[in-house]
Amino acid sequence: MKVALVTAVLLSSIGLANLANAASVDKGQALVEKANCASCHGAGLNAPILPVYPKLAGQYSDYIYYALKAYKVGNGNAQYGRNNAIMGSQVLAFSDADMQDIGAYIASLPGNFVIKK
Ligand code: HEC
Repeated sequence: MKVALVTAVLLSSIGLANLANAASVDKGQALVEKANCASCHGAGLNAPILPVYPKLAGQYSDYIYYALKAYKVGNGNAQYGRNNAIMGSQVLAFSDADMQDIGAYIASLPGNFVIKK
């Protein structure tokens, strides 16, 4: 209970409580194409040009939003921020709504993440 409350407060403090906004797959696709995310993350965002670039296609939209937000928040927020020069510069111009749209688009892409048993 206490943990849930603290989590909710922390998430809302960096804007994650806004996930209920309807995200647009089409707008997300336009943003991804304009920024040419595929130049690193590969065709369909599923074939990275180097193994250090993660596969994205099919990932949960909430997770994509969270990750993009973390790059934007930066590592000044040691608890939630991500410090990566490449992605940090990629997300600079994106609004919260943009990052949600990108999440919706990426989640809609066919990917090959698998659960190994
Ligand atoms: C110049 C190469 C490059 C470009 C262009 C690029 N990325 Fe990335 N991306 C990376 C690298 C490198 C990482 C891993 C960074 C790290 O270690 O945190 C990454 C990580 C990510 C992650 C985190 C994935 C995870 O599983 O946590 C997301 C989401 C992401 N990129 C989305 C995008 C989107 C959306 C765009 C276009 C707006 C984009 N990237 C453009 C190189 C790139």
